[in-house]
Amino acid sequence: MTILDGKKVSNDIKNEIADQVKAMVAKGEKVPHLAAILVGSDGASMTYVNAKVKACEKIGFNSTLIELPEYTSEDELLQKINELNTNDDIDGFIVQLPLPDQIDEQKVLMAIHPDKDVDGFHPTNVGRMALDLPTFLPATPYGIMELLERYQIETSGKNVVVMGRSHIVGRPMSILMSQKRKAGDATVTVVHSRSKNLADITREADIIVAAIGISEFLTGDMVKEDVVVIDVGITRVPDATKANGYRLAGDVHFESVSKKASYITPVPGGVGPMTIAMLLKNTLLSRERRNQN
Ligand code: GUN
Repeated sequence: MTILDGKKVSNDIKNEIADQVKAMVAKGEKVPHLAAILVGSDGASMTYVNAKVKACEKIGFNSTLIELPEYTSEDELLQKINELNTNDDIDGFIVQLPLPDQIDEQKVLMAIHPDKDVDGFHPTNVGRMALDLPTFLPATPYGIMELLERYQIETSGKNVVVMGRSHIVGRPMSILMSQKRKAGDATVTVVHSRSKNLADITREADIIVAAIGISEFLTGDMVKEDVVVIDVGITRVPDATKANGYRLAGDVHFESVSKKASYITPVPGGVGPMTIAMLLKNTLLSRERRNQN
């Protein structure tokens, strides 16, 4: 069994990007600038956004963190988005999800200019992804594709089961892996909360992408020998033996599944760091595109 070391691979990617930034500086070019909007003070979201900003600093990007209070209105957020859309200094920006109830997520994602949508969530970019046109790929699926590619895991003709149909992971993942591309060409099945005989389907899988948001849902009896397992889940599970009172768990029951798997991602240190690296890669791409225009 081989651990798919997302931490190591993401560091490789970040070092590659940092080298490109150094070359930009040497040529007197402007370095990439990523902005992030965080509404409210959800603990997990704060952790993710701070990690994104810290990663920017480490590789030489400029970054701006905009923190808005929980009670921010939809109009106020849309106005902030419009400022970033028109601010020529910003190459790309994200609005961290989930948003408070008073704000319509779809309206917000549609307000972000597609050319600055480094999360790849705008309908224009989702459509371009579905048509296999150049775009910003959503960071988590993009990170998984990159991880499969760098570990040279064969996907062509393989049975892939994607567990979950969310707009930010399951759906794009299923589209990308069925496409004619690196880490693609697979036969993809999507299962979700209404699927019947789920374990019969996962047991046929050569590769499983678990993104259902239920901790330790996929267990050893649900997979076949030598399966490749990508765990997208990350939840805090109460654990009295830990100083902070919790441990992080994925959607995969690691202990039982890792006994049968040929490759598996850990939680933490698997998909999470890859997501951040690919967001940076999209921001670099945006800067390069803007330099060309
Ligand atoms: N919330 C969970 N994952 C993501 C992500 O990739 N981008 C944003 N903006 N919010 C998220």
